[in-house]
Amino acid sequence: MPQGENDKLSTDPYKGVRDFYPRDMFLENYITSVMRETAERYGYVEYGASILERTELYTSKTSDEIVNEQTYTFEDRGGRSVTLRPEMTPSVARMVAAKRRELAFPLRLYSMPNIFRYERPQRGRLREHWQLNCDLFGVPGVEADAEVITLAHKIMRAFGAQDKDFEILINDRRTVVEALSQIGLEEKQVDAFLILLDKRSKFETEVGFMAEAENMIGKERFEAFEQWREKEETNSHQAGELIGALSKLGVDNVRVDTSLVRGFLYYTGTVFEVFDTIPQNRRSLFGGGRYDNLLEVFGAENIPAVGFGMGDVTMRDFLETRNLLPEYISATDLYLCVLGKDFLDYAGQLAEKLREQGLNVALDPTARKAADQIKTADKHGVLFVACVGGQEQKNKTLTVKNLKTGNETTVPEDKVGDFIWNQDV
Ligand code: HAM
Repeated sequence: MPQGENDKLSTDPYKGVRDFYPRDMFLENYITSVMRETAERYGYVEYGASILERTELYTSKTSDEIVNEQTYTFEDRGGRSVTLRPEMTPSVARMVAAKRRELAFPLRLYSMPNIFRYERPQRGRLREHWQLNCDLFGVPGVEADAEVITLAHKIMRAFGAQDKDFEILINDRRTVVEALSQIGLEEKQVDAFLILLDKRSKFETEVGFMAEAENMIGKERFEAFEQWREKEETNSHQAGELIGALSKLGVDNVRVDTSLVRGFLYYTGTVFEVFDTIPQNRRSLFGGGRYDNLLEVFGAENIPAVGFGMGDVTMRDFLETRNLLPEYISATDLYLCVLGKDFLDYAGQLAEKLREQGLNVALDPTARKAADQIKTADKHGVLFVACVGGQEQKNKTLTVKNLKTGNETTVPEDKVGDFIWNQDV
């Protein structure tokens, strides 16, 4: 609240979240509609849930970093601990576990939730983002892993990206865990090392990571691990099967990265991330993997699951960098300028008739000079304008002007819809 007369409220949004003015909303809607359409093309159907979840949903099996450092958690008026969802996977697992007897499997679900994480805002990382989540329940085999990765690949292609623009990194968490225990690490050490490994790319230098790794598990063991990695990346059996399945589906920009383990504790097998090949966009575009045991925490029998999350912020950066974003066009098809107060009633009735034709029509009631009204239409990004005055009222016609080309065409009132639909815009 402002304290004194000169203390004005800030017009800035809260740190790390975005306002969406119409031009931003247009791009956001474009991005989410491409994601939705592609998910639906693969048979995924939409679900939703509340932003609010009980805090305990996240404390058993997600990521310590997210739970301890990144959640927005508060006590409600009844003394319950509530968290703004920092991801969707625990919510969808909860929902599937709750109705597992009624649901039919294989089950393909998608949603477009907003997600909250208390992060240091930076390129590709905000405190609120929208995230497409696609998850496939009930299929244990590699075909399911291949399907969700293919879907991720198709989403990129649907945005106009070429294979050379992005890279899909895959790994199998089990092989890393096995290698670490063979080197002699105990279970607790394995978990701690996996978390360090997940942060590998976030270290300023590789030397910094190596020093920390050697400190954690000892120089000899770390060297043994690095040797295993080198062998595994050129000759990975488990990943080989997945790479083969992907190749048959036309997905070839895939590489095994044995450092990739992902920070969430619920992943049990395949993990993958998609990266922009332009280093300036260094944050992952997609992150996902297989989580076959998560439903166990709800007392449900296990249902194998695999899926991914894909954020709107990183996708927008990707598209902007490559000039792949569409040009803004207002949802308003026609802006009616009124040439004086005397014609307002007629223009109002005409606008109603045009709307009945299916057009989105905005009427300017200010009776300013026509040029000023047209300027407003242009600033709003409306493509077509028409002025309403005595002549239009008498002839029952409108002269429709395309503000991009400057072309003007006189059309009977009842044909304006047909005329505008037939324009190539
Ligand atoms: P995640 O890797 O944390 O995975 O997030 C997935 C994607 O969400 C990232 O690749 C990125 O595009 C976007 N993202 C994440 N955090 C932020 C942020 N702070 N700002 C902007 N974008 C962000 C998960 O959340 C898993 N629950 C995904 C999953 C679904 N696994 C299986 N099913």
